[in-house]
This record gives sequence, C-alpha cells and structure tokens, in this order.
Amino acid sequence: MPPRDVLMPALEAVLYSGQIGEGQAVRDFEAAFGRWLGNPDILSFNSGTAALHTALHLAGVRPGDEVITTPMTAEPSNLAILHAGGRIVWADVDPMTGNLSADDLAQRITPRTRAIQVVHYGGMPADLANIRKVATAHGIPVIEDAAHALGARWQGRMLGQDSEFVMFSLQAIKHMTTVDGGMLALSHQPAMEEKLAEGRRFRWFGIDRDQPRTEVDVREVGWKYHMNNVTATIGLTQLRTIDGLIARHVANGRWFDEALQGIAGLKVCTIPDGAEPSYWFYTVLAEDRAGLQRHLDAHGVDSSQAHRRNDQHGVFAASRRELPGVDAFYSRMLHIPCGWWVSDVDRARIADVLRMGW
Ligand SMILES: Cc1ncc(COP(=O)(O)O)c(C=O)c1O
Repeated sequence: MPPRDVLMPALEAVLYSGQIGEGQAVRDFEAAFGRWLGNPDILSFNSGTAALHTALHLAGVRPGDEVITTPMTAEPSNLAILHAGGRIVWADVDPMTGNLSADDLAQRITPRTRAIQVVHYGGMPADLANIRKVATAHGIPVIEDAAHALGARWQGRMLGQDSEFVMFSLQAIKHMTTVDGGMLALSHQPAMEEKLAEGRRFRWFGIDRDQPRTEVDVREVGWKYHMNNVTATIGLTQLRTIDGLIARHVANGRWFDEALQGIAGLKVCTIPDGAEPSYWFYTVLAEDRAGLQRHLDAHGVDSSQAHRRNDQHGVFAASRRELPGVDAFYSRMLHIPCGWWVSDVDRARIADVLRMGW
C-alpha cells in the first residue's frame, strides 16, 4: 500500500463522496495507468480473470473455438478460456523459462484456433518475437497474460504496448495491487475502437452506459466485471510509487542472475534476447528440487513451487497430451523471494545459503 498519509485522505474522500461505484475515479485511473504504460487504450476490471475473459470474448472466442495456451501458470489463466466456452489446446514450454515455445505453438494451430494466450511466467517475458510471427502468419490475435509481468519489457518496450490484448492483475500479491482488480490494454489502433466500446458493455451487463437506461437495448450477455471508485483510488495512489517497487524487484532479480552463477546443482533461467523481466518472483532450476527446498527450509529461507501445472487438473483433462518441456521445467523449478521487501542483506544471505549446497 502507498504511504498512509497519501492513501488515507484519498480513500476517506472517495468513501464519503456518495460515489463509490464505477465513476470518475475509475476513468481517472484508466487514463493515469495508460499514461504510465504508454498506451491510452485501457479497460479496468474487478479482477485479472475478468479482464482475461473479456479479452478472449473480444478476440472472438466462442463456444467450441480453440485457444492455444500454456499449463505453466496460475489456474485462472486457463479457467478464463473455459469461461468463454473455448477449448484448451496445450502448447509446450521452453524448459529454461517455463514460457510458451513458439515452435511447439506453431504445430498446434488448426482452422479452429481463435486466439493464442501467452503467460510471462514469474515476470519473465516470453519469446514474443517468434510467438507474434506465428500469430501474424495465421491472422490470430495474441492475448498476453502479464499478471506477473507489470513493468517488464520486450525489445525495450513495456509489455502492454504491442499485442492485441495484454492483461495485468492487481490482485493482493502482485507488483501493484488495488486489493483486487485487473487492467486490459488493447493495441492502440483504429480497428480496436469498437472493441473498447464492446469491452465496456461486456464488463457492465451488456449495457451501454452512454445510452439513457430505459432506451438501451442489451443485445449480448454481459457480466459484472467493472472496477469501482474505491479500488481505483487505491490504484491512483499506487501509481505514484510503483516505479520504485518494480525497480527493487528488478534490482534483486539482476543481482541473483549474477550471484547464483556456477552453484553446483543449480541453474538460473535463460533470459531470451530482448527480454527485460520484472521478476515477480525469482525462479531457480534444480535437479534435486526436494533436497534444495529442505535445505532452504532448514535455513529459514522461504521458497515455493507457486502453481500446479494446469494440465494435471481434472477440469482440463480433455486437453491432456505429452509435454516434455513442461515435465523438465516443472520437476526442477523453485521460486525464491526477490520482491521489494527483500533487502541487500536478505538477498546476500539467500545466496550464501544456496552456495552451501544441499
Ligand atoms: C498468471 C496469472 N494469471 C491470471 C491471474 C488472475 O488474476 P486475478 O487474481 O486478478 O483474477 C493470476 C493471479 O491470480 C495469475 O497469477
């Protein structure tokens, strides 16, 4: 949360303003987030999952359509595809990053493919150059799930400026949080103007709020997905301090990139050319992952596997296939803390514990 003396007066003002639902603060937050991101075409939501569902709908995913995606993510990435009625087609991942492999993705395209959903796992940008090459060759929109990757860059540009749809989660434990919330950046081009209007209707019961309420005609099912003025006010104050928080994640991540080289039994992820991660967490790869985790536990260093590979869930059983890249990444990966709360002393201690061996 932003400093108390910044946040509390703003929160108190909005809470007693008589306008706590979706109103001016939401519009102001969308505009401010867009200025920060370098893309004015922003829609806000009450969760990242709602933003993803909307992106899938705007991309044209309808019941029975295929969406190519990765199992190496949090469950909501892929549940959103089922919310839209889509059929999940798993593509394999690069075992050194956990991110979608453009080569495997290319082999999964069929005439029913309606969208490609890319996750930047842990804040590490996926290989967007090659993924977008495949997508463009087939005229298929790309949806980036950048829930972990606020502030990450690809070829010098902030994620959220290029693909058709880019989602950011503002859930409680992300780089930036409004308690819960999500943002969707649409690629800034005239063809997307109607998509912005469609997205605004989709997030508010299918109702066009610019029309008089008794004259409006709801033609399509919509949802209750909009942000409210209270969480938007938290977002507006968060924006004032977000650069410093992201910079600290990045400084810690880059420090680990150097400090963890050459430790027996441990590898760090390979950063693709053109990628500048925002290090939501720091991923290491260890053949003896269980041994490493016991060693870290014994020395009071927190670690986690964070997510279950999604293809193992019963709800996605119909999509199962061999995924050797996922097998290799999932069996070795472990996440260690590198967020803004990790001090220079903390990170040096974590590296020392890793250098001891296990
Ligand atoms: C990769 C990923 N995608 C999507 C989501 C969903 O975001 P939200 O919790 O804001 O709905 C999350 C986090 O929960 C996530 O980690």
